Amino acid sequence: MCDHCGCRAYAPVAELTAEHEEILTRAWALVEATRAGREPSTEEVDALLARLDVHVAKEEYGLYPELRELEGLGEAENATLEEEHRVIRDAIVAGGFDHHDYYALAAHIEVEELELFSTAMFLFDDREWADLDTVHHSANEAAPVPVVDFSEIQANPRPAPTGDW
Ligand SMILES: [Fe+2]
Ligand SMILES: [Fe+2]
Repeated sequence: MCDHCGCRAYAPVAELTAEHEEILTRAWALVEATRAGREPSTEEVDALLARLDVHVAKEEYGLYPELRELEGLGEAENATLEEEHRVIRDAIVAGGFDHHDYYALAAHIEVEELELFSTAMFLFDDREWADLDTVHHSANEAAPVPVVDFSEIQANPRPAPTGDW
């Protein structure tokens, strides 16, 4: 997590960060279901997919292309990140989501938070932030899930793997 660079002061970055927290929390619940040998409820899976889809739209139509335009993200890395979105979604839909899937998700998020967010802060000016705001607003308008309250980020630490795998 980039707790030090100040990128959370930028609303689109704060929103994506809050969504990461929610996605990781919901994904961890699937890991625990798998570990307990049960299928997660349809509601749990649907809530995660709904959040993930909106989040991915924001990144693939907002953050990534804005970074690409300013050469803050290469074509190959962009393609890799988008492929990871597909792989993560497929793993959730397939069922049996386990800690390996969770770590792949967490690694993807870590790259975004440590590299992409910092680069955006360095490169973006008012125009790019306004463009991101527009994309996020459109995605939230179309979303079947409520906007994340990102004022609570620090109060809800993400789950960490514990104990007995
Ligand atoms: Fe992503
Ligand atoms: Fe993300």
